[in-house]
Amino acid sequence: MAEATIKVLVDRPVGTIHRNIYGHFAEHLGRCIYEGVWVGEDSPIPNTHGIRNDVVQALRKIHPPVIRWPGGCFADDYHWRDGIGPRESRPRRINAHWGQVIETNVFGTHEFIAFCRLVGAEPYLCGNVGSGTPREMRDWVEYCNFPGDSTLARERAANGSPEPFRVRYWGVGNENWGCGGHFCPEDYAAEYKRFATFLFDFLPDAPLYLIACGPNGNDILWTHRFFEKLMRGRGFRRIHGYAAHYYCGTAGTATEYTVQQWYELLWKAARMEELVVQQRAILDGYDPHRRIGLIVDEWGTWHPPTPGENPRFLWQQNTLRDALVAALTLDIFNRHADKVVMANIAQTINVLQAMILTQEEKMIVTPTYHVYAMYVPHQDGQALFTDFEADPIALQVGGRDQELFGLAGSASLKGDRLFLTVVNPSVDHPQEATIRIVGASARGERAQVLSHEDIHAHNTFDAPETVQPVESALSGEGSEIAYTFPPASVTALSFRLT
Ligand code: AHR
Repeated sequence: MAEATIKVLVDRPVGTIHRNIYGHFAEHLGRCIYEGVWVGEDSPIPNTHGIRNDVVQALRKIHPPVIRWPGGCFADDYHWRDGIGPRESRPRRINAHWGQVIETNVFGTHEFIAFCRLVGAEPYLCGNVGSGTPREMRDWVEYCNFPGDSTLARERAANGSPEPFRVRYWGVGNENWGCGGHFCPEDYAAEYKRFATFLFDFLPDAPLYLIACGPNGNDILWTHRFFEKLMRGRGFRRIHGYAAHYYCGTAGTATEYTVQQWYELLWKAARMEELVVQQRAILDGYDPHRRIGLIVDEWGTWHPPTPGENPRFLWQQNTLRDALVAALTLDIFNRHADKVVMANIAQTINVLQAMILTQEEKMIVTPTYHVYAMYVPHQDGQALFTDFEADPIALQVGGRDQELFGLAGSASLKGDRLFLTVVNPSVDHPQEATIRIVGASARGERAQVLSHEDIHAHNTFDAPETVQPVESALSGEGSEIAYTFPPASVTALSFRLT
């Protein structure tokens, strides 16, 4: 395989990488909230007001900027008043989407805000459009945010929080093309306007950021038809974000896959780039000044149910392959920092492409978690234009010839600190590369590499450190630095400009 070249153009910034690109999503689903976040104050598992300490400590290390809650499909069947007031008298409901288990509502708005504060994240609440009313959602906003002396603000104070929660991010429904009500785009646009009209800014210094439900994957028609209806006449301006969902799915199972399936899943994950570019291009037609932010508030791998687990709990293992999916997707968001303002991987704990797995009192972090830890320096950095030249990998997907990148990644600058992350998808070829820093010269400082000789490697409760990054000093100085990227790896390289 020929040597690769990575050009990093220090004098060609793309835009600031919004830290919210590194956001998360926690739904009342399986063991994400109950056991994953919430164990209750009386639990033998060490906790702070019911929230597990080990999970909080682990999450703090990856600087979660924002967490979306309570769903997901759960959101459009959730009534927020069920989750406030004395816990022992909260109603017992059925979690209809996710296994019809009893939802005790002991984790509600106050508990979620406490969790966000413990981990240092901003809350993003998803409202109920499908089975709720504009009045219900409007009252949730008032309950959370009104600083004055209304009945709802008094109720919040009586429930322990005299100060408003100051929640800025509000989703107006979830997947309203599906579990959120099976609307057509025009009907959802009408509902969106009705709801958004009554979601008032109660805090002048923290106006709401209202997020509309976008397409399932890169559905171009949904976006056109939604905005045609929304913008008809004088146009409707009370929309700040527009959120697509894209699950790259699976190839094989979570832990069993061939080399071909390894490449196939990475190829499917890399389709995120088309979604970002094409959806933003459509949005630009309606919103040329980019007032409305493009968001991907659910994304990740979705493997077949794990034998022995409740199939409706969406529990799955997380291997080195999931780590490469996370890394190449975050690199796409970084490269398009001018287009994407938030992204929320699904989901934080014990569900789908999780950061953390728990088993009663035990907790482990996944290879995907390590990618988030390695990528922290990108948050709020200035994304730089990059050009990766490496022989692509040929593969077949669904009987058609396709190509997967040979090397891909992203670069950002913060002061004089240059940070470059790179994915080498090849299962067996170390990729030699010359890193050309155009417009500056730099000194290598540190390299972190996440890889393993077994492409199926993952962490378990018995062997929790099977996949973890290895750190070393990074040599080389000047405007051309040589580096060899190991097979099946995610690499983070730090430099200082000289
Ligand atoms: O993340 C799991 C589910 O996937 C969410 O509830 C739903 O929004 C999506 O279909």
